[in-house]
Amino acid sequence: MRAAVAISQNPNDPLSGLLIKDVPEPRVEPGWVKVQVKASSVNMHDLWTLRGVGHDPKNIPIILGCDVSGVTDDGREVIIHPVIADAEAGEGDETLDPNRALLSERHDGGFAEYIVVPERCVLDKPSTLSFEEAACLPVAWSTAYRMLFTQGQLRKGQKVLVQGAGGGVASAAISLASAVGATVYATSRSVKNRELATAMGAAEVFESGERLPERVDLVIETVGEATWAHSLRCLKPGGAIIIAGATSGTNPEADLGRIFYQQLRVIGSTGSTQEETAAMLKFVEKHQLHPTIDRVLPLDRIHEGFQAMIDGGLSGKVVITIP
Ligand SMILES: NC(=O)c1ccc[n+]([C@@H]2O[C@H](COP(=O)([O-])OP(=O)(O)OC[C@H]3O[C@@H](n4cnc5c(N)ncnc54)[C@H](OP(=O)(O)O)[C@@H]3O)[C@@H](O)[C@H]2O)c1
Repeated sequence: MRAAVAISQNPNDPLSGLLIKDVPEPRVEPGWVKVQVKASSVNMHDLWTLRGVGHDPKNIPIILGCDVSGVTDDGREVIIHPVIADAEAGEGDETLDPNRALLSERHDGGFAEYIVVPERCVLDKPSTLSFEEAACLPVAWSTAYRMLFTQGQLRKGQKVLVQGAGGGVASAAISLASAVGATVYATSRSVKNRELATAMGAAEVFESGERLPERVDLVIETVGEATWAHSLRCLKPGGAIIIAGATSGTNPEADLGRIFYQQLRVIGSTGSTQEETAAMLKFVEKHQLHPTIDRVLPLDRIHEGFQAMIDGGLSGKVVITIP
């Protein structure tokens, strides 16, 4: 079968390690399911792997792609929960399993004609979504769901700030939070992404770092260094900042005085449990939500999709379809 495989890692030329090649079809072990992939979207995570960040070189070569939709042998239209983990090892929360792995870290991912995954990872695709849309949800939307509702305990009527509206997690957070009846403020460096945020349900949009009309209960942070100081300043006393990524850098000034004096809570968040992914899918179907797609490309043009992500300026996800 055809697949996009990471064959080497290079921080300066990540795409030199991405190869489309023929590989054997995967074997199905007991308890695992084979899925014919229809679409798989590109994540920063794929780029980190090719750059050699957070991915053990001994797990190369590996098929990339952690966001997958497809069809099982018995015709079920599915999306794949992307975390392979054991809830017991995480004392009831699989995201706390020290041995957890996102698809494409230790198990082959979805830029291929077929993928095999544990049965529990196979979830029904919402009927309201195309395969291309469904392939945008597992990583970004499930991460945003856990950030807002599990870690942030967001309720109707609360105020939320989402930083970096153009990002996959950020745009999902805007959509999910506004659907639940929260007032969402969003920031972005670009006019285009501020317009996108408004379309996703933001009540008001701002340039990065701009003063908000009021303080918020919750900040959804994936930008990191570039927005951290603003995030802290925008919180009400006792408010919470939920952080799941740091695209612009991981070491901002901590401003500890503000954190303890205002009694702010800083909460890390990674991935989602299978139950959270399933709940997110039900929520998306009920509220008729749709992810934003920047472009759809066939597998043999995957390098173009990665290059667009490297160049920046995307508005929504890059989706790869598998013929
Ligand atoms: N913990 C988890 O489970 C998890 C899951 C998914 C992703 N992540 C991580 O979360 C981060 C976000 O990922 P993503 O795929 O959602 O989006 P992304 O493409 O990395 O973008 C994040 C957004 O941050 C803003 N941004 C980037 N650099 C900036 C800068 N220098 N100054 C101000 N704003 C800046 C941009 O928004 P504007 O252009 O609109 O300003 C950009 O769209 C990544 O680092 C990713 O690895 C973590």
